[in-house]
Amino acid sequence: SVVILDFGSQFTRLIARRFRELGAYSVILPGSAPLERIMQENPQGIVLSGGPSSVYDENAPKPAPGVLDLDVPVLGVCYGMQFLAQQAGGDVKRAGKREYGKADLTSYGGQLFAGIQGEFVAWMSHSDSVTALPEGYEVVAQTADTPVTAIENTVTRRYGVQFHPEVVHTPKGGQLLGNFLDICGVTRDWTAEHIIDELIADVQAQVGDGRVLLAISGGVDSSTLGLLLARAVGEKLTAVFIDHGLLRLGEREQVEAALLPLGVNLVTVDARAEFMAALNGVSDPEQKRKIIGREFIRAFEREARKYGPFDFLAQGTLYPDVIESAGGEGAANIKSHHNVGGLPDDLAFKLVEPFRTLFKDEVREIARLLGLPDAVRMRHPFPGPGLAIRCLGAITEEKLDILRRVDDIFISGLREFGLYDGCSQALAILTPIQSVGVMGDERTYSFTAALRAVTTDDFMTAEWARLPYDFLATMSNRIVNQVHEINRVVYDITGKPPATIEWE
Ligand code: XMP
Repeated sequence: SVVILDFGSQFTRLIARRFRELGAYSVILPGSAPLERIMQENPQGIVLSGGPSSVYDENAPKPAPGVLDLDVPVLGVCYGMQFLAQQAGGDVKRAGKREYGKADLTSYGGQLFAGIQGEFVAWMSHSDSVTALPEGYEVVAQTADTPVTAIENTVTRRYGVQFHPEVVHTPKGGQLLGNFLDICGVTRDWTAEHIIDELIADVQAQVGDGRVLLAISGGVDSSTLGLLLARAVGEKLTAVFIDHGLLRLGEREQVEAALLPLGVNLVTVDARAEFMAALNGVSDPEQKRKIIGREFIRAFEREARKYGPFDFLAQGTLYPDVIESAGGEGAANIKSHHNVGGLPDDLAFKLVEPFRTLFKDEVREIARLLGLPDAVRMRHPFPGPGLAIRCLGAITEEKLDILRRVDDIFISGLREFGLYDGCSQALAILTPIQSVGVMGDERTYSFTAALRAVTTDDFMTAEWARLPYDFLATMSNRIVNQVHEINRVVYDITGKPPATIEWE
């Protein structure tokens, strides 16, 4: 594997992503991870990430003692390169001007750039630069502003790049990282087939004859986990899907159709009446969320007792949830129980989290191989509280029914026009606003529906999607014609921040 030591760059995760796309397994550890921790990963190469610090900062982060003495290739990126250079006896200075954005390499060569041809656009973001080379090192790339843009010492196998090869703005960066993998001698067998075999073997080793409980949400992670566990432990798995009555049109049937034929021991629980009763008359968004969370745990607990006892609880936790990164070190930063925080002590399960080392797109690839239909596999995220937080104010069956039909027209339309995959998330909202309209010769006084679509990488910030006007016009027509309770359709043109993606 390749170990990536994180010194706080916002791009560190991308380095791991690129390596995995290249078929190599990599792990991110805190920059200060002790040598023993790093050795557990059998590192064949080490990457020192970028970071916000200057090597002159009093508390400039550094690798633990002994790490740089390992006889494996080391690649320093940005801050990582400056650290390598300084530590080997070179000099680093605050550059006259900050270099930020795209730069053309005026020359490049050496092992890191082997086989790369033509222009090389490098994405820069730095204010310190290496000004004097350490002994044994050579400059292997330059830009007009930065004479020392990449360095290497082929004897000690130490390499450094001032730019960020991991971002898309460095189009040939993937080739460079591939070269580093070759220098490390890493085998590129991190493919989805290989991962599936390993995950199944790991689950079987962990679970043995034990019984496993899994909550199915209908999203890609839990559905894929259901398929994987069915392969690994068969009937020892009980997958519980709670229909809380806040699902989208046809969603329950879709989940059942996706999982039952592939051998998942799926139990669908109709808890619609309980949820509706608990939510009756509640209009405050936070109250609604709390009630849904509480009712979910209550229902899940009841089913667990009914079908139990279980030894294990499976969760679809992904790598981004568990990364030990520079931001906050150690266990405090790891959240494992984020879905089941409220289960009582006597339902103490051991956790099975086979996807702990995977990124979302790797899960999607596994899902494809396990036969999950594309409609589920490529689905946008859908919040646990479901349509309740898109039906503003107190919910009723009637309002949910209206919202379901609007949402279905919008989402089906996005698919029909080939726009679905270009959005990170799309949703319809039923507002409590009533306004006057005219249909045929009649005055109407009906509800306003809002449509929202966003693009985002991480759902922490988002832009509203610039959907074509013609498409929005078609959606508006279809909605008012087919859903008689709606006489006005608006499109949400607010980013996050200041708005959130969901309306409640
Ligand atoms: P907001 O509205 O905070 O949403 O911008 C960000 C992302 O999180 C999803 N979301 C939730 N997912 N349980 C979930 O599982 C929740 O309570 C919840 N609230 C919001 C939302 O759909 C979006 O993808």
